[in-house]
Amino acid sequence: MNPNFSKKILLTGVAGFIGHHLAIKYLKEGYHVLGIDNLRNDDSHDFKSQRLIDLQSKDNFTFEHIDIRDKEVVSDLFQRHTFELILHLAARTGVRESSEQYADYLNTNVNGTCHIFDANLKQKAPIIFASSSSVYGDNHTIPFSEDQKIASPLSVYAASKASAELLAYHYAKNFGMPITALRFFTVYGPWCRKDMAVYKFFKAIQEGKEITLFDEGQLLRDFTYVGDIVESIFLLSTITPKETSRFGVYNIGKGEQAKVIDLVHIIEAALGKKAIIVNKQKVGEDMDATQANVDQLFEKIQFKPATTLNEGILKTRDWFLSNG
Ligand SMILES: NC(=O)c1ccc[n+]([C@@H]2O[C@H](COP(=O)([O-])OP(=O)(O)OC[C@H]3O[C@@H](n4cnc5c(N)ncnc54)[C@H](O)[C@@H]3O)[C@@H](O)[C@H]2O)c1
Repeated sequence: MNPNFSKKILLTGVAGFIGHHLAIKYLKEGYHVLGIDNLRNDDSHDFKSQRLIDLQSKDNFTFEHIDIRDKEVVSDLFQRHTFELILHLAARTGVRESSEQYADYLNTNVNGTCHIFDANLKQKAPIIFASSSSVYGDNHTIPFSEDQKIASPLSVYAASKASAELLAYHYAKNFGMPITALRFFTVYGPWCRKDMAVYKFFKAIQEGKEITLFDEGQLLRDFTYVGDIVESIFLLSTITPKETSRFGVYNIGKGEQAKVIDLVHIIEAALGKKAIIVNKQKVGEDMDATQANVDQLFEKIQFKPATTLNEGILKTRDWFLSNG
């Protein structure tokens, strides 16, 4: 019998893009995954249902429809189960919507995260949670490294992730809860969210519709393939010792920049079709450039994201043409 089979992990946001990929990995490794999600009705709602159907076919997967904004329900979950590890990905995502809907972003990403930390006070299971490259905000020293200040967020979303990191430090330091915050850099791949540029570009180019580019596609992003994110998290989780009350922060990115217009050209080549481009000025919430320094990650796990943008887009294309 697989020795991991008895290990139960909690994965929040399991019906989401990255959560689904992560669940598949841990299920394959023989863990018991208890996934929770509130299945929020957004653009990707149908994808959430399909991802969940896929996971529910596995014996070692269970799902509970739970909203992390509800403190009592989260607390009850921790009274009913003991976890070896908590992977906390549930969040309101997307930068631009976050100004208008700030209350719900803060309620989910800050209060909801606090509910997870608080409910874990007794068990003190190690927690790995999804932060974001957006916390670097108005920093202009590229590539971003973990010791840079995160005091200049450009969006409510970024501020909510930075706040969650600060709260994580408090729980780690004062209560001995091992918590690792991971700053993901623009993740893409099969089953990606419909509100993300990669998906929007694939769909519009395939259907001969317009795509919108901000600042003529000159914004720079560190595009990171989802499989590399999953591998990094898995390796980190297998070396994070339960006993140490350590707080850690790691960037997870490819460590390279590409212009958004380059991404468009790669998708055009993958589909064999030309994009119809409409240009707009970028909004204040958008960062000009992101790029991860991944030295600390590599030092910790001897692995760093390696999938090139070309390779990752071809894998995404194969999925898109059969499922997207
Ligand atoms: N995709 C990226 O490029 C990226 C970059 C940086 C950080 N992140 C972070 O990684 C995590 C996963 O991102 P994703 O792209 O998979 O997003 P996603 O939206 O696909 O997944 C998030 C999931 O959380 C669920 N959720 C939202 N509110 C909830 C609540 N109140 N209770 C329970 N579940 C709730 C949603 O229904 C969704 O299934 C998020 O924390 C996100 O902020 C993602």
